[in-house]
Amino acid sequence: MDFYEIVKKRRSIREFQSRPVEEEKLLRVLDAGLKAPSHNHQREWEFILLKNIERRKEVLEVEPSSHDFSSEEINDWTEGMTDQLEKEMYLKALPVQKRMLLSAPEVLVICFKMRKALGNCKTLFDLNSFASVWCCIENILLALAAEGLYGVTKIPYDTMALKKALNIPEDYEVAAIIPIGYPQKHVIKQKSVSLQQKMHFDRW
Ligand SMILES: Cc1cc2nc3c(=O)[nH]c(=O)nc-3n(C[C@H](O)[C@H](O)[C@H](O)COP(=O)(O)O)c2cc1C
Repeated sequence: MDFYEIVKKRRSIREFQSRPVEEEKLLRVLDAGLKAPSHNHQREWEFILLKNIERRKEVLEVEPSSHDFSSEEINDWTEGMTDQLEKEMYLKALPVQKRMLLSAPEVLVICFKMRKALGNCKTLFDLNSFASVWCCIENILLALAAEGLYGVTKIPYDTMALKKALNIPEDYEVAAIIPIGYPQKHVIKQKSVSLQQKMHFDRW
């Protein structure tokens, strides 16, 4: 498939068919993740696949942001939003934050080595390992699209508890949790951004 078509095809999907994901596709996708650039040439990334539904539930129990938001919480969250597409996204996404992780045929936890504890990071340079893992994540999202698969990046709030629940070594962090599968519902309209308005020449 043409690269630019894949870029267009990639979208965040939160509702999945029960159809299982073929193992060979998943392996190709993860391997594409490992081809991404990394700041120190080390690609210090690890993948945990949460196969067992009971394990998923245990993990979700310690991850406070992974609950399906009530209508009251959704109202509070979206109340002051003026951008209609942003609001629409939250209205559709917030009620399924837990469900998407329990119903997806695959759930991938992406970990990365964080040599300096977050509290000791003072410059963006210190966050290079975090920047690098997002290169890996984007490769994975694009590779999923190339395979006809979809996912969405869920960022955990409380990684301490999550790390403990998943037995993740101290010097590793969780970058994202990605439910993966074949899409069930039509996606939310993507906000279009004009390239012309984003470009600057010689100075901002
Ligand atoms: C850093 C980051 C964090 C995100 N966190 C969440 C999240 O916690 N839950 C969720 O449902 N989607 C999450 N998303 C997905 C965004 O909502 C989505 O990318 C955005 O609405 C644009 O839609 P698109 O990916 O279909 O283009 C996240 C995306 C990024 C890049």
